[in-house]
Amino acid sequence: MNQAEKIMADSGGWIEIGSIDEIPQLGARVVRTADGDIAVFRTADDEIFALRDKCPHKGGPLSQGIVHGKRVACPLHDWKIHLDSGEAVAPDEGCAASFPVKVDGGVIRLLLTPNEGCPNQ
Ligand code: FES
Repeated sequence: MNQAEKIMADSGGWIEIGSIDEIPQLGARVVRTADGDIAVFRTADDEIFALRDKCPHKGGPLSQGIVHGKRVACPLHDWKIHLDSGEAVAPDEGCAASFPVKVDGGVIRLLLTPNEGCPNQ
């Protein structure tokens, strides 16, 4: 086990990705992983959500979309995606994988294992 793996194991798999202040309200930042990019969003209420940075329609970068409430509008064809579940807002269908995320003392931590329920992991 190398140092990075040891740190991950010690922390239960939660990785620190920075301060909440590094993400503008209604904005996002991208966390690059071996399995693909994850978009981490901050709402107007300072809630944080993490989704695979890949729209369920044609793979648009959700991190570049506009956040409204707890939804993000894909920049390519304007599908709306629920930030909590990753599900597309009806009548569109599909989902982007969502990831567990938490904020402790202003520090965002992310689990790289997606939540269940979306086949597009
Ligand atoms: S790729 Fe996102 S709406 Fe088409």
